[in-house]
Amino acid sequence: MNLISSLSDLRTKRLSLLGTVGLVPTMGYLHSGHLSLVSRAMDECEHVIVTIFVNPTQFGANEDLSKYPRDLERDLNLLSSLSSPSSAKELIVWNPSAETMYPLGYQTWVNVEALTNPLEGAMRPGHFKGVTTVVSKLFNATQPHKAYFGQKDAQQVAVIRRMTLDLNFPIEIVVCPTMREDDGLAMSSRNKYLNKDERTAATILFRSLSEAKKMYEAGERNADVLRNKMKEVLASEPLANVQYVSCADYDSLEELNMIENKSLLSMAVFIGKTRLIDNFVLG
Ligand code: PAJ
Repeated sequence: MNLISSLSDLRTKRLSLLGTVGLVPTMGYLHSGHLSLVSRAMDECEHVIVTIFVNPTQFGANEDLSKYPRDLERDLNLLSSLSSPSSAKELIVWNPSAETMYPLGYQTWVNVEALTNPLEGAMRPGHFKGVTTVVSKLFNATQPHKAYFGQKDAQQVAVIRRMTLDLNFPIEIVVCPTMREDDGLAMSSRNKYLNKDERTAATILFRSLSEAKKMYEAGERNADVLRNKMKEVLASEPLANVQYVSCADYDSLEELNMIENKSLLSMAVFIGKTRLIDNFVLG
């Protein structure tokens, strides 16, 4: 494994790489969800760059930037367990500083418009502007052929795809399935904040999505019926405080009346003070 901090070292390294390069952008505190993206990239690309950077510009003023979990040593150990010593493939880890990504006087932003208005964008103003800006910078710095993102962050995937098309980045966006704990809870670095009771309660997101999906599979196509089902199941958990529940078109993220094409069930729910998101794709 090759750990790089400075941008000039990364550029030198990148220039030496022949063949396909896969990028896995992360904010660290890695779990099996992140690792599934890295494994997929290692299967599909000759070189893999994992970035670890807790991006300050995608956190709102009242969000968890200062307490977001960080443990580089733990992350590096997890990553080295993936790269076999016999494999010719070397994993490159870039963990730039905030000063590298946002030099003094920084004032340049990438902003995707309509797609960032609903759902997470409505609840977290400015969040996606931070995400698209940092991901553009990571794309520029690492020049990958493919970049790997998790379906767990469904709107992020839609927004990054749009940005990649709009800005003509010559990069294939690969979307990987959501990794879950045995009881269905989607893996997330934020699950670390949950106490024992909250951890049990947190399965309500998966359970409500599953109930709605069951109705869809039985033929229900009325989006309101599915949204109401999810709300009803969520309401049965006293520790859950629902922020939004959505049944939207998969690509435009516009709320639906009737489901006709590929669509997205999604939600954001506070369990205690911890904000969790999850989603299922239908069709
Ligand atoms: P982070 O939350 O660290 O997630 C890094 C990547 O891992 C994202 O593409 C995310 O969707 C994926 N991921 C997270 N949990 C997952 C799970 N349970 N199963 C599968 N994939 C999962 O998303 C970000 O960081 C940032 O916004 C970033 C893109 C790095 C820009 O700062």
